[in-house]
Amino acid sequence: MAAIIDGKKIAQEIKDELKEKAACLKEKGKTGALAVIQVGDDPASSVYVRNKKNACAYIGIESLSYELSGDTTQQELLALIQQLNEDERVRGILVQLPVPGHIDENAIIKAIRPEKDVDGFHPESVGAMTIGQKGFLPCTPAGIIQLLKRSGVEIEGKHCVVVGRSNIVGKPMALLLLRENGTVTVAHSRTRNLKELCRQADILVVAIGKPRFIDAEYIKEGAVVIDVGIHRDAHNKLCGDVKFEEVEPLASAITPVPGGVGPMTIAMLMNNCVESIAEIEG
Ligand code: GUN
Repeated sequence: MAAIIDGKKIAQEIKDELKEKAACLKEKGKTGALAVIQVGDDPASSVYVRNKKNACAYIGIESLSYELSGDTTQQELLALIQQLNEDERVRGILVQLPVPGHIDENAIIKAIRPEKDVDGFHPESVGAMTIGQKGFLPCTPAGIIQLLKRSGVEIEGKHCVVVGRSNIVGKPMALLLLRENGTVTVAHSRTRNLKELCRQADILVVAIGKPRFIDAEYIKEGAVVIDVGIHRDAHNKLCGDVKFEEVEPLASAITPVPGGVGPMTIAMLMNNCVESIAEIEG
């Protein structure tokens, strides 16, 4: 029987800590806003954006909402980012991804000033993380490190296998585990002997984007299993990349879906926003 890692509870603890920090900063006259930009009306993006704005309200940070139509041009979006870059009240800028196909995502990410890049997606933020310098960390992998630490899972010296190599999760996850002195293997959909490799993991982080892909055969007894996936199954029920009911009896600890990694992403976004406000001089 595995311990269930309660991401909802841990995220709530972090948000409560941040609420206090934000209040202390306010007393020192340090306040600022998060600008949240959504282009188009993708329903999943709308839910994420609403949750982010609600989290700001809970913590006591102002959020500025920019809901742009799906036919907004790249130039118009870049002009808005430029205006927000120069606005001193704005301490964080977030463009909800994906953006419509006619907009170059990389150009948008690059346009955000690194000091306001609370998503941690700017090449400068990624570079700083890679060489252990100061900068914003991407929220989902940073949240997973917090989940592990706050659940008492030691990372140092462990074999950590990350399944998935996206810029948002897999690659930064590998770097952050390495920073914690884990021994890291990055696997992906084209890895040979994926099953055997996963079975060597003490800590298995799954971000492969395939519903219920990882079953009991991929798991070493006693492994810690972190499931980053979020999908709807045939019965419209939420599920992850892991077959929870098969894997849970083998694992020593596991994250559920929902209520595992998901809530941590927003908690860490709030952490980055509070850090950005703390950087205000004076
Ligand atoms: N789309 C999916 N995840 C994210 C995220 O963490 N940040 C942004 N901006 N867009 C996303």
